Amino acid sequence: MARIVGGLATSHVPLIGVAMAERRQDDPDWKPFFDAYRPARAWLEAARPDTAIVVYNDHGLNFFLDKLPTFAVGAAPLYGNADEGWGIPVLPPYRGDPAFSWHLIESLIDDEFDLTTCQEMLVDHGFTVPMRLFWGDRAQTAVTTVPLSINTVQHPLPSPRRCYRLGQALGRAVASCAEDRRVVVIGAGGLSHQLDGRRAGFINRAFDRMCLERLADDPEWFLSMTPRDLIRRAGTQGVELLCWLAMRGALGDRVRRVHAHYQAPVSNTGAGLLVLDPVAGRAAG
Ligand code: DHB
Ligand code: FE
Repeated sequence: MARIVGGLATSHVPLIGVAMAERRQDDPDWKPFFDAYRPARAWLEAARPDTAIVVYNDHGLNFFLDKLPTFAVGAAPLYGNADEGWGIPVLPPYRGDPAFSWHLIESLIDDEFDLTTCQEMLVDHGFTVPMRLFWGDRAQTAVTTVPLSINTVQHPLPSPRRCYRLGQALGRAVASCAEDRRVVVIGAGGLSHQLDGRRAGFINRAFDRMCLERLADDPEWFLSMTPRDLIRRAGTQGVELLCWLAMRGALGDRVRRVHAHYQAPVSNTGAGLLVLDPVAGRAAG
């Protein structure tokens, strides 16, 4: 049977992608940040996932404001990258997993999540930066991938509760796959940041640190919030936390927090990292 072996969440700041491309992980300015990912990589070595489901948000590379699905799942054999600005290099494509994608899609649609299905899909820094943070130069070969994008750009946005429930349905979808497969779920984005408007540069360190605590043991705390509440606390782009909530929903009722790290600012963002183990015996949903 397929099973979720754990959850990871990380920020996806483009500047981190540039630093990795320039191999600056040991520069004094960057070393503390990249060293914080060592425990996550060691945990991944032990967890041995075959597949990564990456819950992220597209920033205009694949979807634009003219057509922007609330939830979209990739079902492509390969996921290419493209020049999206920011100075991030174009990387080789990531391996898809069409049969597993279609299993997830069928289960999610059966579970009343009316998704957009993408047999071609470009992935932007929201996907590529986390992949490279966790697998480095092996990101294109170490695991197959299923991108799941949540609209965090064009209002109206889905609520925290809806995204958490999507994650719960994703947990059920993985559990209903008969094939032996080890799955890691990644939530990419956040933590607090605002790139535009009057509050440009806004970071809420107290809220971010609270997220790193509560997401593990009290995720329901977030579920009464509206997207607007989240934006008020975390900034217009801090709403990317929705991707973390979907990841958390997939892991079931109880989790163990293996590792957490916070650094602010990284570029314009409060940068968070979270590694969660599911606690056996508890089904999602
Ligand atoms: C930054 C953060 C993001 O999440 C993003 O998508 C783009 C830029 C930043 O901090 O610069
Ligand atoms: Fe972003």
